[in-house]
Amino acid sequence: MADWAAKEIRGFRIHERHLDRAAQLALVEDVRGIARAAPFLVPVTRRGTKMSVRMTSAGAFGWITDRRGYRYEPKHPSGVDWPPIPARVLDIWRDLVPEARMPESCLVNWYRPEARMGMHQDRDEADMTQPVVSVSLGDDALFRIGNEERGGQTESVWLHSGDVVVMGGTARRRHHGIDRIKPGTSDLLDAPGRINLTLRVVT
Ligand code: SIN
Ligand code: FE2
Repeated sequence: MADWAAKEIRGFRIHERHLDRAAQLALVEDVRGIARAAPFLVPVTRRGTKMSVRMTSAGAFGWITDRRGYRYEPKHPSGVDWPPIPARVLDIWRDLVPEARMPESCLVNWYRPEARMGMHQDRDEADMTQPVVSVSLGDDALFRIGNEERGGQTESVWLHSGDVVVMGGTARRRHHGIDRIKPGTSDLLDAPGRINLTLRVVT
């Protein structure tokens, strides 16, 4: 897990190719295990709009959104506990943010080729001094970084399979989103698309 190309954009620390191919493949297996225990959901906003990503979670809390709004929940809507955060995922957290509390949630976002994620802030967590760590697997994604307030100038960067982004400090409250993914840029997954793991301390 050598960091031969860490870079920083507006406080987002981007550890390029932090994970080698073997580590990425192992994480994909971990994600399959999570999805067997806690199947992917179609997230729906309070207004009834379907999001284009599919989501599931691991850890003490999973982030969900449905007609009641968005929130952290201690169980999958089927009633089962979210599976534990895989050890290999916790290792990435310990490695990159050793000073932080341990994560209580690992959100799994599955982007099929046409999926995107609108500009948003991560702000449903009680302790905003704790970082967010985000792992990219599969096809490249165009990540847009904005400001603490809505709007204004943004900067975009392509995230690749194996990249890990740390959102801490001043970056923690910045808007960000995924404009699009580029299908066919990675053969890590069985089909075109991208998996993103987002680790957070919730309480
Ligand atoms: C997110 O910010 O919720 C996801 C970011 C990503 O998919 O890289
Ligand atoms: Fe986010």
